[in-house]
Amino acid sequence: MTKRLPLIAGNWKMHKTLGEARALAREICQGVTGDLKVEVVLAPPYTALTTVAAELSGSPVKLAAQDTFWEPQGAFTGAISPLMLKDAGCRYVIVGHSERRQHFGETNQTVNLKLKAALAAGLCPIFCVGETIAERQAGQTLKVVGRQLIEGLAGLTGDTPEPLVVAYEPVWAIGTGLTATPDQTQEVHAFIRVKLPELLGAADDIRILYGGSVTPENSASLMREADIDGALVGGASLKSDSFLKIIAAAG
Ligand code: PGA
Repeated sequence: MTKRLPLIAGNWKMHKTLGEARALAREICQGVTGDLKVEVVLAPPYTALTTVAAELSGSPVKLAAQDTFWEPQGAFTGAISPLMLKDAGCRYVIVGHSERRQHFGETNQTVNLKLKAALAAGLCPIFCVGETIAERQAGQTLKVVGRQLIEGLAGLTGDTPEPLVVAYEPVWAIGTGLTATPDQTQEVHAFIRVKLPELLGAADDIRILYGGSVTPENSASLMREADIDGALVGGASLKSDSFLKIIAAAG
C-alpha cells in the first residue's frame, strides 16, 4: 500500500488583512518544525498571496489560492488565472469548494475546466466534493459525490502533470460545528479511493482530505481512519494555536 504524506491545508476564506495575514503566516512557520511528517499549506485570500508567499519563503509551508479562473488571460474582469497564481508563488489551488458552488454558480463543468487549467499551469488542485444535508438524508451521498468525481475529472488521466488532491467536505459540516463522524467520513473516503482508479487509472498517490469543522479535538480521531490523508481546515486555521495542534495531530 502506498504511504501518502498527510496534508493539512488552512482555508482562510474571506478573512485577514495584510497585517493579520503576515502575522498568522509567521506564527505558523515558527510552529512548523522541519522534522514534521506532514505537508502544510495555507490558502489566504488573493490580496494576501504575495505577502504570505514572502513569509513562507525558506519554510516548508506551501501556498495555495482559494479558486482560479480557467482562461490563461483576457477580458475577464475580476478573474485571476492559474498562471497568475503560479507567478504569485502558489503551489496549490482549491477548486470546487462548496461555497463557490453555492454562492458563485460553480458547476461540475466549470470545476472540470478549472482542474484542467490548474494542472496545465503546474498547480496542484485541491478538488472539493461533498453532499448537502438534504442529499445525505435522502440517501444520495455516494451518488452525488460519484457524479462530482465523474464530471469534475472528465478527460483527466492518472498521469496528471501535478499530483491531484481530493477533499471530501460534507456541506452540512462546513462551518457548522457538526463534524461527520469518523465512520461516516471513512465510508465516503473509501468510496472515493475505489472510484479514483476507475476514473483516472493510477491513483494511489492521490491524497483524500476531510473537511468540515475540523478542530484540535476531533482531528486525531479523523486522521486515524485508513483512507483519510489529511484535512482542509477553515475556522480552526484562522488562529495559529488551533491550526498547529491539528498539524501536530496529523504528524
Ligand atoms: P470549516 O471549513 O473548517 O470552518 O468547517 C472547512 C472548509 O470550508 O474548507
